[in-house]
Amino acid sequence: MLCALSLESILKSSLTKRLRLSSSSLSSSSTTPLSHLSLPGPPCWPLVGSLLDILWKGGLKRQHNIMLEYHKQYGDIFKMKLGNFESVQIGHPILLEELFRNESQFPQRLEIRPWKVYRDYRDESNGLLTLEGEEWIAVRRPLQQQLLKPNQIGKCHVRLNKVIENLITQIDSCCDEKRCMKDIMFELNKWTFQSTCSLLYNKKVGLLQPTNSKQALTFIMSSKQMMQCLGILMVTSVDLHKKVNSKIWKQHTEAWDNLFKIAKEYIDMRFLKPTVYTEEDILDEVYQSSQLSRKQLYAVMTELQIGGVETTANAMLWAIFNLSRNPKAQTRLNKEVLKVLPDGQAPTVMDINKIPFLKACLKESMRVTPTIPFTSRTLDKDTCVGGYLLPKNTVVMINAHPMNNKEEYFSDAKLFKPERWLHEKDKIHPFANMPFGFGKRMCIGRRLAELQLHLALCRIVQKYRLMATDNDPVEQLMSVVMVPNREIPVAFHKY
Ligand code: HEM
Repeated sequence: MLCALSLESILKSSLTKRLRLSSSSLSSSSTTPLSHLSLPGPPCWPLVGSLLDILWKGGLKRQHNIMLEYHKQYGDIFKMKLGNFESVQIGHPILLEELFRNESQFPQRLEIRPWKVYRDYRDESNGLLTLEGEEWIAVRRPLQQQLLKPNQIGKCHVRLNKVIENLITQIDSCCDEKRCMKDIMFELNKWTFQSTCSLLYNKKVGLLQPTNSKQALTFIMSSKQMMQCLGILMVTSVDLHKKVNSKIWKQHTEAWDNLFKIAKEYIDMRFLKPTVYTEEDILDEVYQSSQLSRKQLYAVMTELQIGGVETTANAMLWAIFNLSRNPKAQTRLNKEVLKVLPDGQAPTVMDINKIPFLKACLKESMRVTPTIPFTSRTLDKDTCVGGYLLPKNTVVMINAHPMNNKEEYFSDAKLFKPERWLHEKDKIHPFANMPFGFGKRMCIGRRLAELQLHLALCRIVQKYRLMATDNDPVEQLMSVVMVPNREIPVAFHKY
């Protein structure tokens, strides 16, 4: 029904001239698919492809906005080339539904080659972010048991709340006389790092205490350094960087060395002193229930730790920003939280389930200011999408940003309207908003991230009125995750 409604709206749209729906989405249709070569696309020059156009329009940091513009110009599906890298870009829920419904047993994302080159260089194993095929599923299965089952993750709220209390204390001690914090993102990184450690290894790292753990700070800084290097290494030849031992390759290697070293130390320490730990942790559960070697565990846990730190902190940063700019929504949220938790107590999972507006605020924040505006798939078989036959090995980029910004899918798309997730939910196409990706390769940390965010956001709005300290624009820039172009202007006033 939902698809039929959306289909009708597409057919009415002017974009239909360019869009051909394939036989699998229009079951009665028998059109022969077109070659992918006939897809429209931006100007493409020899050697550089569309890179110059992208640089001219604002550069890779603004690629999400450029994709929005390209989708308006070339349609919901178009082809693009950046240097040697060819891709098909998709920004339409029906086409994505078609793509994901045809997903194979072991879906693949675009290979993050700099990470793989590092692992070969240092003879390290791969984790979920870098594995493919049978090896990937062998690692994913035991982790999924622990991380994606709501009951399993739900048990962790006590541990997560302890870390949130430290975050609140830290906010209080970091605020200046105007109740502003200097580097909010870094404080949030400490919170997510500590939560992830607590869950993965049952480890207290003391990051949100006055004596910060040096190791933990190094991990956070190294994760940022590694991500800063990644953009350039992805669009230039990583093999060449390695061969000439370029500055960027050295920085990337040094960052990964730190990340692996610290995660290994945590894991080794955890296995050395099993008796100190009374509560179960994910490391132990996965180790007991799987055939993973110690070397594989190192890679898996390092990647989980990286996956958990920057993304969740970033989503919280934008939620704080959006609430500070939307006092009406914030007041409603505060009232609804107080109804369930009148005495200022920390929430449980049951409490969170009684505050649907809290979940709606987070969902809406992740729509208007996404943490990751796209994901990708490398097709492992010929696949028909939108009437085009995309050959095996095509890299498909799944663009969430254009869909999140389209009136067709979200009325008043630019506005922060959490109530749409309560009242209009049935009208929103499920593939129009996928902040955690979709299908077999969906984010494995989704449940953990959502629980952390719900618990912490609840606590923050209980304690503070978030006030915008200016109303000048804050732009999102692409840097693996979407970072603000300046410190977010917000003050934490105590109730
Ligand atoms: C707000 C927070 C987060 C966001 C927005 C986010 C988003 C994503 C997205 C979009 C993907 C790609 C999914 C796809 O291709 O379909 C992904 C994959 C992944 N995420 Fe997250 N993530 C978050 C938190 C976390 C956390 C807390 C962890 C670890 C505990 C984590 C670990 C991973 C891993 C390991 C993968 C790769 C999964 C695989 O390929 O099997 N993420 N995430």
